[in-house]
Amino acid sequence: MNIDPPVLVPSILAADYTRLGQQIEACTHAGSEWIHCDIMDGHFVPNISFGPKIVKAVGQSNDVFLDVHLMIEQPDRFAKAFVEAGANLLTVHQETCPHLHRTIQYIKQLGAKAGVAINPATPLGHIEPIINDIDLLLIMTVNPGFGGQSFIESMYTKIEEAVLLRRQKQASFVIEADGGINQDNIKRVGRAGTDVFVAGSNVFGAPDISGRVKELTKKINASNDLYV
Ligand code: DX5
Ligand code: ZN
Repeated sequence: MNIDPPVLVPSILAADYTRLGQQIEACTHAGSEWIHCDIMDGHFVPNISFGPKIVKAVGQSNDVFLDVHLMIEQPDRFAKAFVEAGANLLTVHQETCPHLHRTIQYIKQLGAKAGVAINPATPLGHIEPIINDIDLLLIMTVNPGFGGQSFIESMYTKIEEAVLLRRQKQASFVIEADGGINQDNIKRVGRAGTDVFVAGSNVFGAPDISGRVKELTKKINASNDLYV
């Protein structure tokens, strides 16, 4: 997968669900081409969110790339339902997949891009053997389960190390950072080497959603300028 320029991806976890369609439109009008859907099962993470029906509704009412982040145990059981709901990319957690290589192949067979996510405490080495099989590596920059948490500082180095690993192994996955991204830290997240920036509460908590998407996108594009 090739992402150039990098993309800002709103996570609807923090949206107002009574006005979900309008809020997604506010993002797409500001240039968002991807929408991030956080699926939580109350087992792998201590929270429950939503299932394929909402993902399908998001895709049907908007022409967006559906980035589906499965924070669920035994994700193989639900992969097909999410791809049928329109998921373009399915990301599973390394921590939930004893047969990770098999799960990745299964997602690809279903016709979606395959991503793997790792929690803040999971070393990059845990995904090294499958690094040439994935389309995307999601680096959790908070502990998964909730929006609105603070970015864990040590994750800047992890992103930089993922960039190095990608180069060393001649891999082509894109790097997604997820959790605690805001106007103050997004340039630094960009300088570390992130391609895909997920932002939930910072986007949907803003008084002007479109304005915030544009502001964050501008900062991403300026993140490699000198003197920022
Ligand atoms: C956390 C989710 C994130 C979350 C990000 O478990 O994976 O995608 O929505 O929310 P913010 O941007 O508020 O940290
Ligand atoms: Zn997420």
